[in-house]
Amino acid sequence: MSKPTFYITTPIYYPSGQPHIGHGYCTVAADTMARYKRMRGYDVLFLTGTDEHGQKIETKAKEAGVTPKAYVDAIVANFQKLWELLNISNDRFIRTTDDYHVQAVQKIFKRLYEQGDIYKGEYVGKYCTPCEAFWTESQLVDGKCPDCGREVQEAHEEAYFFRLSAYAPKLVQYYEEHPDFMEPQTRLNEMVNNFIKPGLEDLCVSRTSFTWGVPVDFDEKHVVYVWVDALSNYITALGYENGRYQDFDRYWPADIHLVGKEIMRFHSIIWPAILMALGLPLPKKVYGHGWLLMDGGKMSKSVGNVVDPFVLCERYSVDAIRYFLLREIPFGSDGNFSNEALIGRINADLANDLGNLLSRTVAMVEKYFGGTLPKEREADALDETLTAMAAGLGPKAEAALDGMQFPTALTEIFRLVSRCNKYIDETMPWALGKDPEKRARLATVLYNLLECLRICAVYLTPFMPATTPKIFEQLGAAEDLRGWESARVFGALPAEVSVHKGETLFPRIDEQKELAALAALQEKAAAPKEAAAGPEKKPEAKKAEPEGVASLIEIGDFAKVQLRVAEVTACEPVPKSDKLLCLQLDDGQGGRQVVSGIAAWYRPEDLIGKKVVVVANLKPAKLRGALSQGMILAADAGENDVKVLFVDPAVPNGSTVR
Ligand code: MSP
Repeated sequence: MSKPTFYITTPIYYPSGQPHIGHGYCTVAADTMARYKRMRGYDVLFLTGTDEHGQKIETKAKEAGVTPKAYVDAIVANFQKLWELLNISNDRFIRTTDDYHVQAVQKIFKRLYEQGDIYKGEYVGKYCTPCEAFWTESQLVDGKCPDCGREVQEAHEEAYFFRLSAYAPKLVQYYEEHPDFMEPQTRLNEMVNNFIKPGLEDLCVSRTSFTWGVPVDFDEKHVVYVWVDALSNYITALGYENGRYQDFDRYWPADIHLVGKEIMRFHSIIWPAILMALGLPLPKKVYGHGWLLMDGGKMSKSVGNVVDPFVLCERYSVDAIRYFLLREIPFGSDGNFSNEALIGRINADLANDLGNLLSRTVAMVEKYFGGTLPKEREADALDETLTAMAAGLGPKAEAALDGMQFPTALTEIFRLVSRCNKYIDETMPWALGKDPEKRARLATVLYNLLECLRICAVYLTPFMPATTPKIFEQLGAAEDLRGWESARVFGALPAEVSVHKGETLFPRIDEQKELAALAALQEKAAAPKEAAAGPEKKPEAKKAEPEGVASLIEIGDFAKVQLRVAEVTACEPVPKSDKLLCLQLDDGQGGRQVVSGIAAWYRPEDLIGKKVVVVANLKPAKLRGALSQGMILAADAGENDVKVLFVDPAVPNGSTVR
């Protein structure tokens, strides 16, 4: 009989900056799941990869003076290096620049166009010049760019659209009929309340303003932007519309798309609608995990708080990092990463509880029996709670893992570890060792400990694949005693088992010294050149921010914004716009023109002669044909009211605001 299949994916990562530990979080979780399923006898396909197109990469490559492909090649190599280091067992790695994917995306796009799901129109949207991003009205937050919070301007561009709005009723019906489609359950509510109920808008799926993307082969001005390209990776990597692979029928629909919460919308609304349009079954589950935060904000190079996973792995071992990521944070929620918490976990759980238990047990078998247990046994009522707990661990670990509750699975496993340590205190093997009459009892105690350790190691294998073989070696557990099923039976180790003392699994860390060393390292890393990594800005970035926590910036970040006092010398409405005013400013530096969306609240004559604050180093932009060289500051003064910040007339024009 053929094995059941299990297809799991991570998002494909933007190689716009170096990988950080936040990327590792999602990938380690997916890897643990894939390893677990393999151990349970599934035929697993585990996919990850990189999402390499888009304006941001085109711009960064230009800045770096290389082609976009050369730019991504270098960063993708680092992602691959990191996955290798973290023992990520992906079966496939897709790059959206791979030929087979590009060609398949062109076919998918064309087919959707030919059947009327994609149509040509005009994108009239809001453009955020600093972010170089288009937004729809509904994506704006308080009328501002949802990513950076700045003013957006009206702009238009010829574009293709996907008829997303037409799929709303079908999507709602699908969610109702498949209540487990989105997890955790809160994500379903977020999607329905934030996106479906307000009404779905058709989705812009092409761009003419940059060229680094999959060309629309029947209209060469356009490149596919970007979700039709990115999301299709999940099926092109199986061979959909290409000859590179032939696994589509075997693995599709995916069992789990594991994604961060901010891209849940793309996976639970847009992707299902595209699949419906293609007549394909939908993935069985989209799981939206939370973020790994640092200092209360999302980890990203742009806020200077990224932790280098290469450094962490080198200092603490790969498995300590894997363990920490999946133990510390309730899966599905946000959680904080801190050096203190990491070191605390390593010392308490891995060095003290697990590592110590193993080394003590093995050392006692050596000390009292020369490394090999005799076969005589003497049971005691004390043994029963321990062996019952060991026998009951499998179903608990499975239930937790099947529900993606990694921390719960680890907690259960470590409860048995703690119970073993307590069992040592209760049975006092050192006292038994002094009494020649108690050899059988001592052998029983040590056997029970070895067997519990074996069972723990089996269940820890998906989490810590480099460590558990070392544990098995020390315990003398042969290959056939390392598989998932072998842990269901208590007593599988041979009665006369021989142990082999090995290296300390997780050396204890001197917390104070280590924290000081890390602080020094981080300071060095925070000083440097240009920030390199971080998740690419996405429409949801603002909405999905951790509740009540604003990202903190350094004083140096604020210093990048040049604010100056300027006087309005002339002002008039921008033709054909009822929102924009065009202001001439005396900024003490020769003057400048700024276009501002304040026509609803101010008449030109209200402004002339007033002093305002202008953002002086904003990239210039054209709004309705009028050049804008900066923006003026204004406050949201109520539901639908805006007040410009006026400055005391005594302040000279051109004064710096800081
Ligand atoms: N390219 C898109 C995904 C396309 S999938 C068809 C993308 N890339 S990303 O590199 O910005 O993010 C990839 C994944 O990494 C997301 O799921 C995101 O949530 C995750 N993470 C990035 N930083 C993270 C943390 N600090 N914590 C947890 N996950 C993080 O979005």
